[in-house]
Amino acid sequence: MLIGLIGGTGPEGRGLAMQLALAGHDVVIGSRDEARAIETSRELAATCGSDETAKRFSGTTNESAAAQCEVAFLTVPYAGMIPTLQEIARQLRGKICVNTVAPLEFVGDQARSIGPPTGSAAEEAQREVPEARWVAAFHTVPARGLLRPGSRLDADALVCSDDEDALKTVIGLSDQMHGIRGVNAGALENARYLEGATALLVNINKVYGAHGSIKITGIQVN
Ligand SMILES: NC(=O)c1ccc[n+]([C@@H]2O[C@H](COP(=O)([O-])OP(=O)(O)OC[C@H]3O[C@@H](n4cnc5c(N)ncnc54)[C@H](OP(=O)(O)O)[C@@H]3O)[C@@H](O)[C@H]2O)c1
Repeated sequence: MLIGLIGGTGPEGRGLAMQLALAGHDVVIGSRDEARAIETSRELAATCGSDETAKRFSGTTNESAAAQCEVAFLTVPYAGMIPTLQEIARQLRGKICVNTVAPLEFVGDQARSIGPPTGSAAEEAQREVPEARWVAAFHTVPARGLLRPGSRLDADALVCSDDEDALKTVIGLSDQMHGIRGVNAGALENARYLEGATALLVNINKVYGAHGSIKITGIQVN
């Protein structure tokens, strides 16, 4: 599968690109600046650990990445989410689009959720581009663990969507990543809890000086 990372030059996009390429997918890094995307794809190729995987990375503009890909991952900050979607709305039509955006602000060293008072960034994105097949996932999977080719995170990707097939596809992609288990977290409206939980997780990680993630116990997923 050809997967596009919109805003893929940051830590989360790079980390997801690394894991998806290691799982055997071709990944195209998108950026507002094509040269930065190409540079990022070269850096990922140089650190992925095998010539076979290195061939799977490429870089281009966000618009071109959205046009080329079969599945898009949106990995821009909340402030850039709507402007980015306005630029690539046409290219996303009919495609699975995985929204990783957790709207956060920092007050001192504390993270706070700044999502819409009702709903979520995920639902805002869906309203902006209703023709895409929206999935919200990976909010609680820290970029740092994704970026290291040999790491096993032992984390859950909590996946929400109103589109059953899209949800299954993204759970499948999650399961292909080292140390990640995809968990069906229900309808897209549940994304508000994932986005809020991200602030909590960031603050817990601050307390422990760690890069922990969230794992649901007591469920049988397969
Ligand atoms: N970092 C994590 O551990 C983590 C974990 C889970 C979820 N997330 C979510 O993933 C998203 C990306 O996180 P990140 O840490 O990778 O963020 P980031 O480094 O701040 O941003 C990612 C990329 O987005 C582009 N960008 C920045 N500002 C933009 C704007 N105003 N408009 C359009 N594009 C912009 C930049 O790419 P170009 O300049 O190359 O265009 C940047 O490299 C966030 O929404 C975050 O909540 C992050």
